[in-house]
Amino acid sequence: MSNDLPIGVFDSGVGGLSVLADLRRALPHENFVYLADTAHVPYGARSDDEIRDLTDRAVTALHGLGVKAVVNACNTSSAFSLAHLRARFNIPVIGLVPAVKPAVQATKTGVVGVLATPGTMRGTLLSDVIREFADPAGVQVVKAVSTELVPLVETGKASSPETRAVLREVLTPMLEAGADQLVLGCTHYPFLTGSIHAEFGRAFALVDSGAAVARHTRNVLERGHVLSERQEGGAARYFVTGEVERHAGVIASLLGEKVQNERHLDAAG
Ligand code: SIN
Repeated sequence: MSNDLPIGVFDSGVGGLSVLADLRRALPHENFVYLADTAHVPYGARSDDEIRDLTDRAVTALHGLGVKAVVNACNTSSAFSLAHLRARFNIPVIGLVPAVKPAVQATKTGVVGVLATPGTMRGTLLSDVIREFADPAGVQVVKAVSTELVPLVETGKASSPETRAVLREVLTPMLEAGADQLVLGCTHYPFLTGSIHAEFGRAFALVDSGAAVARHTRNVLERGHVLSERQEGGAARYFVTGEVERHAGVIASLLGEKVQNERHLDAAG
């Protein structure tokens, strides 16, 4: 495998851009191909089989572009698809797990909140990390589920009054239960940081998995001897499975830069 191939990053939509930003910081010389399955987002309330099938189609399309590794930057998809993807593709597949471990290490109140989609709550990855890190430390985990927040981020409303009202409703019980750490268990949620701070001040420390996944990706590439040897900075290309025009503006506003090269990629079955 060539070291010069790009790294594929997949998400149901624009949430994985938060992970892409961490990846680009940790791996500044790498090229990236980002695929958002915008024709099928949100994944969060879909069945396990649907999530697995949609992920399979999208990652197959991404793999077809020629990538040396795939980062599945979608918590919901990772919860159901990692084993399957690793068996199917002969390149490293890195997934997302809610950042319960650092939250457990940092809590002073002994209560940690996890905000995620119904799919991520149902998957075994979350219960595994709770069993491995929270339970032995005697840390209570309070869960909050939302199906509304992902579509709000997807439609460019991360800072809207509507989003703040949803956050108030889902996070207030968590605060009342004493949580001082909030695990952002979906890669769309880092884009809600401003709204969470506006509603709750610094009541919660926000914990996401982006930086840890970027470090892990770097280690995996290093161990596989496929880190790029380029000296110049890497670039990113963007693909969506839905309409290009609908998402270019949202992607540009979340990235804080204009996206020049967004393309449609057919991953529909
Ligand atoms: C979704 O598509 O509903 C959520 C994506 C995620 O869990 O990161």
